[in-house]
Amino acid sequence: MRQRKIKNEEERLSEHNQYLIKEPQRWKGKWQQLFNNKNNIYTELGCGKGQFILTMALLYPDNNYIAFEGRGSIILRALEKAAQKDSKNIVFVKEYIKDSNEYFEGNELSGIYLNFSDPWPKDRHSKRRLTHSSYLEGYRTVLKKDGFIEFKTDNDGLFFFALDEFNNQGMKCLEFSRDLHSTELDAKKVTTEYEDKFRASGKKINYCKVQV
Ligand SMILES: C[S@@+](CC[C@H](N)C(=O)[O-])C[C@H]1O[C@@H](n2cnc3c(N)ncnc32)[C@H](O)[C@@H]1O
Repeated sequence: MRQRKIKNEEERLSEHNQYLIKEPQRWKGKWQQLFNNKNNIYTELGCGKGQFILTMALLYPDNNYIAFEGRGSIILRALEKAAQKDSKNIVFVKEYIKDSNEYFEGNELSGIYLNFSDPWPKDRHSKRRLTHSSYLEGYRTVLKKDGFIEFKTDNDGLFFFALDEFNNQGMKCLEFSRDLHSTELDAKKVTTEYEDKFRASGKKINYCKVQV
């Protein structure tokens, strides 16, 4: 995602400390305490400017949401929107997640959203893809038994790679489409910034939901 450098980025990020979680590893196993309730927790890895996860948080006030985004200039947009909406059931982490076990205890999450993850097209970079087996093994540990991963992408190569990896991990496909928006699946109802952009240019959206 291209983004111009933002002036006073750190200062502007610090204006949103209510939403931006410092030392997130400290909350491992205790995220429900942070939200001060026992509601289910869902996370998006690579939330960009937050359109998807903020809409989910608004639609489902009885769920808790944790959104990860590595780029400060991008997450700042999501934080600003969260503050405008006065969202109570969402927090953000400004980190590039590598191992989900660093942040979550076993069975702590109910679902993981991977929306338009960076494709890393070169084979030698395949381990950086958020659907690489090494990531999936981590997701399986931190998700509950009936937990799910939802994956959307415009990128066919990345989609087939992910399907292979899900299959290799024995993850069961619950929903699948090569053209999400021609279906009646719920996953088409809440879109991301990238999804809107690709749809506007006529691209079909690949989608699948797996149970771990
Ligand atoms: C192509 S953008 C998609 C953004 C958004 N999900 C959407 O669909 O509009 C991918 C985003 O994921 C972020 N990202 C990539 N790897 C990440 C990681 N390991 N942890 C957190 N964020 C990551 C990038 O900084 C980028 O903003």
